Amino acid sequence: MNKTPNILVTGAAGFIGSHTMVELQQAGYQVIGIDNFENSSSRVADQITAITGIATHIEKIDIRDKKSLNEFVNTHKDIAAVIHFAAYKAVGESVQFPMKYYENNIGGTVNLLEAMAANQINNIVFSSSCTVYGEANPPVDETAPVQQATSPYGNTKQICEELLKDQSQATGLNVISLRYFNPVGAHDSALIGELPIGVPNNLVPFITQTAIGKRKQLTVFGTDYPTADGTCIRDYIHVVDLAKAHLKALEYQLAGKNKQSFDVFNLGTGKGSSVLEVVAAFEKVSQQKLNMVFGPRRTGDVVQVYAACNKANTALGWKTERTLENCMQTAWAWEQALAAKENK
Ligand code: UFG
Repeated sequence: MNKTPNILVTGAAGFIGSHTMVELQQAGYQVIGIDNFENSSSRVADQITAITGIATHIEKIDIRDKKSLNEFVNTHKDIAAVIHFAAYKAVGESVQFPMKYYENNIGGTVNLLEAMAANQINNIVFSSSCTVYGEANPPVDETAPVQQATSPYGNTKQICEELLKDQSQATGLNVISLRYFNPVGAHDSALIGELPIGVPNNLVPFITQTAIGKRKQLTVFGTDYPTADGTCIRDYIHVVDLAKAHLKALEYQLAGKNKQSFDVFNLGTGKGSSVLEVVAAFEKVSQQKLNMVFGPRRTGDVVQVYAACNKANTALGWKTERTLENCMQTAWAWEQALAAKENK
């Protein structure tokens, strides 16, 4: 490559966005990050700098603000591709405030696609979710049908995939939609990680917050599922493995290797873990017993889901490297680093 392409990352200060910024920089890309910092910290740019040694700036732009977004994209003429993370992601909140989700996740994506079209930017990697498959028979591959969404959040991911498909048909835009299973863990440096707002809905931050003393106990939602230990099964993927997949997808796209202008890849480990297995892995690496109680099922939870990742393994030349224990160990180190900062 003669010239390093510029990559625009939306939601650059978020959980997966920040880890992807690191991987892109370490691979030699010029990265332009934007974020509205509503659910993230503006200090993340400094943390990325501390990891990579490359001066990082993340511009405060809200993708709902069409004018600012257009001006920003216009002033950065040589963007080769966009990696689009910026979105709300809390399933429960989306049920309560659906319009907020449609306006940001869909409206923001429409604004972004218009700004890209106006500036002849022809490549986008989109942050999607395995939620599009609903209750499918695992291992779930990309041929599994997209099911009726069970939440406005899930619906925004489906609708965004549809509008990306339409735009790719209309303009030749190259789209790769990455359907994540359950992203967990944190960077080995413990300088970036997940920053849940309020009480976490997700299992792993709830575990680490319980262990650090922010939460009294973990409630295991349901022990009577038809699985070996009675708890739900998910495919937990380390956020650094996930970030590396974005790099591979981008390289695939920039090299013109994509066979279709709209393509999807599942990103998971291919292995399911139960809630109790996740807790056991945490207890092993942290060497402490977790305060845990058994409660009723949570509405809307599917019994078990894990990915078939052969397509990403083969086409992108990517596979996961981290274990569940490493996921828990890095998530725990990150929680401890956060607590150390708060106690300063
Ligand atoms: N769980 C508990 N106790 C908790 C939290 C979670 O037992 O306090 C259990 C859940 O019941 C589930 C498992 O841990 O069995 C994982 O739950 P998460 O909330 O961490 O993850 P989900 O699989 O429910 O949700 C994730 C993403 C969503 C996405 C969904 C798609 O967080 O954004 O996958 O399936 F929509």
